[in-house]
Amino acid sequence: MKPVSPRVTELLNNALTLELTVINGYFLSARMLDNWGLPHLGKAFYDLSIGEMNDADELIQRILMFDGHPNVQKMNAIQVGETPEEMLQLAIDSELGAIAQFNGGAQECHDLGDHATALFFEEMARDEESHADWFESQLDAITRLGAQNYLAQHVDPSSRPS
Ligand SMILES: [Fe+2]
Ligand SMILES: [Fe+2]
Repeated sequence: MKPVSPRVTELLNNALTLELTVINGYFLSARMLDNWGLPHLGKAFYDLSIGEMNDADELIQRILMFDGHPNVQKMNAIQVGETPEEMLQLAIDSELGAIAQFNGGAQECHDLGDHATALFFEEMARDEESHADWFESQLDAITRLGAQNYLAQHVDPSSRPS
């Protein structure tokens, strides 16, 4: 089926660009954290990366439903922190950026009369809110416990080289 306006497909593709960027940023962060001996925090980033991949999948399917062309070639610049705290802060920034972009997409879709795609964007924004909240909680914990105490909980003494 055709979308009410080509702008709808464009908004979905812009969201896809954002998701593809976040997938790669979180995945790289996950493996860097593993490498720093912080596999528990690494696993959290890994799981979030897979969650964002599911978002990308839903976007691709919706673009195809509208007979559009999902653009998987495009990504924004990937920023990865050099410390766990920087990674968490950059993740919060990117989630807040996603929330703003998806809310904007929802508003435009409402204005165009495509309320189903607007709802789709609203649900995605709510997902990203829960991610932002989780990352913020981690930074709060670091402030309360101190980085050393916080990070000590993310070391897995049973992990072995494989
Ligand atoms: Fe996402
Ligand atoms: Fe997210």
